[in-house]
Amino acid sequence: MQDFNDKTAFVTGAASGIGLGMARAFVGAGMKVVLTDVRTNELEAALATFDAVDRVHAITLDVTDRAAWVRAADEAEQRFGPVHVLCNNAGINISGKMQEATYADWDFCLGVNLGGVINGIQTFVPRMLAHGQGGHIVNTSSMGGLSASVSAGLYCTSKFAVVGLSESLRGDLMDQGIGVSVYCPAAVQSELFESTAQVRPDVFADSGAAPPPAPDFAARAASPIFASAMTAEEAGLRVLNGIRRNDMYILTHPEIAKTLATRARAIMSALPVEPPNAARIAAMGTSRHTALYEEQIAKQSPTAP
Ligand SMILES: NC(=O)c1ccc[n+]([C@@H]2O[C@H](COP(=O)([O-])OP(=O)(O)OC[C@H]3O[C@@H](n4cnc5c(N)ncnc54)[C@H](O)[C@@H]3O)[C@@H](O)[C@H]2O)c1
Repeated sequence: MQDFNDKTAFVTGAASGIGLGMARAFVGAGMKVVLTDVRTNELEAALATFDAVDRVHAITLDVTDRAAWVRAADEAEQRFGPVHVLCNNAGINISGKMQEATYADWDFCLGVNLGGVINGIQTFVPRMLAHGQGGHIVNTSSMGGLSASVSAGLYCTSKFAVVGLSESLRGDLMDQGIGVSVYCPAAVQSELFESTAQVRPDVFADSGAAPPPAPDFAARAASPIFASAMTAEEAGLRVLNGIRRNDMYILTHPEIAKTLATRARAIMSALPVEPPNAARIAAMGTSRHTALYEEQIAKQSPTAP
């Protein structure tokens, strides 16, 4: 997408952090933005920080609630017209060893981080195809969707799934004028730890992980990982740039290069060293997904906004 002026974006998890950063970048680019979140008070507070009140609209939405998605999409279209940019960004963080996880941990994590993305796609892709004006979908994954991390197996499972979903969806929509990106950030300043505790439903209260300690905001703000993290505003600008470039992967942190390269090398090194079977290659035919990867490789790397 090149022309953002007067187009409409719909962002989930927009009450704080990356979603709010995206919303700010979109408004800055001349878009109308529907901010949605399950935390109504935080959402209203976020809305109040925008000067361009006629270009922003807030809707309380739990991304796991499919009926609520339909109502929110209808309301968004009534307010601003067809939606061109969908950002499936709402997410929760869950940590702990996988062997200690409960079904409640799994259902909470996959319900929001993967199910929420699926619900967004199911709701909006038909509407985007129907309005025929083109568009773009950004699904927020994580560096944890491209490499495993210690004691983050549930989170990584959900975020790896979002990467595979996004790549596949990009292939499916390639000829339909709708771009698809998966955003895989490393550390960005946000409220993720606090919001996860706030949004965990009672029905999923049974956790195998020890509850996180009550947040000490002053200590956290001073901690190296938070202090060195990218601001959400910068992350939002970089996502906007990724949409403009129609990148399949929106990567904002060059610091993850060694991890990604090492994982790619590990996968390649696991291939048997023997001549490939020509009949199998012929039977597989030309894979459309190879073209997806080649298209991304052909682009110049993004630069800082
Ligand atoms: N902050 C980081 O360092 C980082 C790194 C990698 C990936 N991410 C991902 O970025 C996304 C945004 O998180 P953030 O870090 O900005 O944290 P954040 O807490 O500031 O924002 C996440 C928002 O999602 C909302 N949310 C949670 N469950 C929801 C639900 N069921 N329905 C609707 N909204 C819901 C929360 O209320 C919150 O406002 C998440 O998907 C997260 O996994 C964050």
